[in-house]
Amino acid sequence: MMDKAKLARNWIFFAIVSFSLTFSNAMISGRIGINYGRNGDNLPSAFEAIEHLQNMNAYRVKIFDASPEVLKLLSGTKLQVSIMIPNEQLPDIASNQDVADQWVIENVLPYYPKTMIRYIMVGNEVLSVKNDTVLWYNLVPAMINVHNAIKLQNISNIKIGTPLAMDIMESTFPPSNGKFRDDMPVYEVLVPLLNFLNKTNSFFFVNVYPYLSWLENPNKISLDFALFTANNSSYNDPGSSLNYTNLLDQMLDSVHFAALKIGYENVSLAISETGWPHSGDIDQPGANIHNAATYNRNLIRKTTAFPPLGTPARPGVVIPTFIFSLFDENLKPGPRTERNWGLLNPNGKPIYELDLTGARLDREYSRLPEPWNNLPFKGKIWCVAAVDANVADLRDALDLACNGGNGICESLAPLKDCYQPLSEVAHASYAFSSYWAKYRNSSNGVHCHFNGLAMQTTIDPSHGSCRYPSVTL
Ligand SMILES: *[C@@H]1O[C@H](CO)[C@@H](O)[C@H](O)[C@H]1NC(C)=O
Ligand SMILES: *[C@@H]1O[C@H](CO)[C@@H](O)[C@H](O)[C@H]1NC(C)=O
Ligand SMILES: *[C@@H]1O[C@H](CO)[C@@H](O)[C@H](O)[C@H]1NC(C)=O
Ligand SMILES: *[C@@H]1O[C@H](CO)[C@@H](O)[C@H](O)[C@H]1NC(C)=O
Ligand SMILES: *[C@@H]1O[C@H](CO)[C@@H](O)[C@H](O)[C@H]1NC(C)=O
Ligand SMILES: *[C@@H]1O[C@H](CO)[C@@H](O)[C@H](O)[C@H]1NC(C)=O
Ligand SMILES: *[C@@H]1O[C@H](CO)[C@@H](O)[C@H](O)[C@H]1NC(C)=O
Ligand SMILES: *[C@@H]1O[C@H](CO)[C@@H](O)[C@H](O)[C@H]1NC(C)=O
Repeated sequence: MMDKAKLARNWIFFAIVSFSLTFSNAMISGRIGINYGRNGDNLPSAFEAIEHLQNMNAYRVKIFDASPEVLKLLSGTKLQVSIMIPNEQLPDIASNQDVADQWVIENVLPYYPKTMIRYIMVGNEVLSVKNDTVLWYNLVPAMINVHNAIKLQNISNIKIGTPLAMDIMESTFPPSNGKFRDDMPVYEVLVPLLNFLNKTNSFFFVNVYPYLSWLENPNKISLDFALFTANNSSYNDPGSSLNYTNLLDQMLDSVHFAALKIGYENVSLAISETGWPHSGDIDQPGANIHNAATYNRNLIRKTTAFPPLGTPARPGVVIPTFIFSLFDENLKPGPRTERNWGLLNPNGKPIYELDLTGARLDREYSRLPEPWNNLPFKGKIWCVAAVDANVADLRDALDLACNGGNGICESLAPLKDCYQPLSEVAHASYAFSSYWAKYRNSSNGVHCHFNGLAMQTTIDPSHGSCRYPSVTL
């Protein structure tokens, strides 16, 4: 039995330790990380990018590989680093401890500890790869092997995680109704994953995009709710009686409740990606500088608040957060927003002012441009050749689109309505509009992009008896 003095000493010791742990955790984890993706052909050098990150007061950086160049350059900095193992390497790493050991020897040891590697992400959005059961079932074994490989090197301050997308969720609303997708091997993959994360004291990393949720349902979800500007109005979850003032908290708590349903009530969440696009297509409302700045500024204030805010279901917990993304990445496929999540222009100038420390007040920022596209567009849209498109590239893209069959380019044949004018720009614009109108809603979701050669317009390019197919919203 412990005597009273010892008990008191222990209690004081405990109080100091837990206070300083909480304190330092908040001071550390409450700081902001930035995703540094490099899928662009106009980006500055890694050296410059890292200088920008430091000037911005970023606390962490997350890269999508383990680039020797980037890891070497980071060695001189105080940035905490998250590196990633590509999905294709998971099966080998999962089935062979030696491969995992070798990966750590080649990708961590040359830089660590000078480069402050703190997270190794095993794969990216692995469970979003539909029906790839080989990949799915290899996820946790790969994480375990990488964890063993780290332990073998006596390294104790690198956590192993894996970022998952919100499409792992069957339902997210109300948050208390949160549930993982039915077609997912919950007991074969998710339970072992949560067990691994719990045992290793790691985080459940999620890529959480309130913008995308709002975009799917702009009439049901208020934009203010998504931008943290709903102020005092709140949503009361009837299942939990918790009150929500923003969409991000709702989405995070839906994951919390889904994990709770399969037996894990204390999962620590981290946000591996979040952000807001500053520009997008005509059919992507809400993507503008005003909203991007508003979202990220409020996100940062929330993340850096001390004491930590957590979420309604898990108040007070620290949620490490990485904003997506440092730069616009012009080589990304998909809708225009995909290429416009950046914080900085390629020359390093901010696209909008953003204080990553969270200290700056709204009134201390200069005035933002008015949001111009917050209401969903109603009307017709065409998909035409971009103004700066190269003529030879247009000719190739035109052939490709016309080979899509289904009479896409019927009207472009000699003697047909759209044969004249016989120009690459006119023909490609017709082919893009026709192809896009036909396949926009197909399961593989064709976008008005065509490798950067196309853009949306509300100006009808039709002429004479030639009618360009359009999409009506
Ligand atoms: C996945 O597999 C299920 C069952 O085998 C099937 O019904 C479903 O269509 C598949 N989904 C995809 C995207 O391939
Ligand atoms: C790790 O620590 C153990 C026990 O202290 C030691 O035997 C081993 O050599 C160390 N391994 C490395 C790679 O430093
Ligand atoms: C919330 O407050 C801010 C700042 O006062 C204001 O700009 C914004 O319009 C308010 N939002 C709503 C939904 O009233
Ligand atoms: C929110 O409510 C509090 C008290 O209920 C009030 O003091 C504050 O001004 C309100 N803020 C906004 C932005 O409406
Ligand atoms: C939620 O808000 C309602 C109404 O404002 C209030 O009565 C209730 O106590 C709040 N619940 C919690 C858990 O804060
Ligand atoms: C998580 O880990 C802790 C020990 O670190 C343990 O007490 C707890 O039961 C675990 N939770 C679950 C749901 O496994
Ligand atoms: C979750 O954490 C709370 C508070 O630390 C603890 O009381 C509870 O037992 C934990 N639950 C599990 C399943 O570990
Ligand atoms: C195409 O998808 C949009 C939503 O993106 C929907 O509003 C529209 O009704 C769909 N059109 C057709 C023809 O299926």
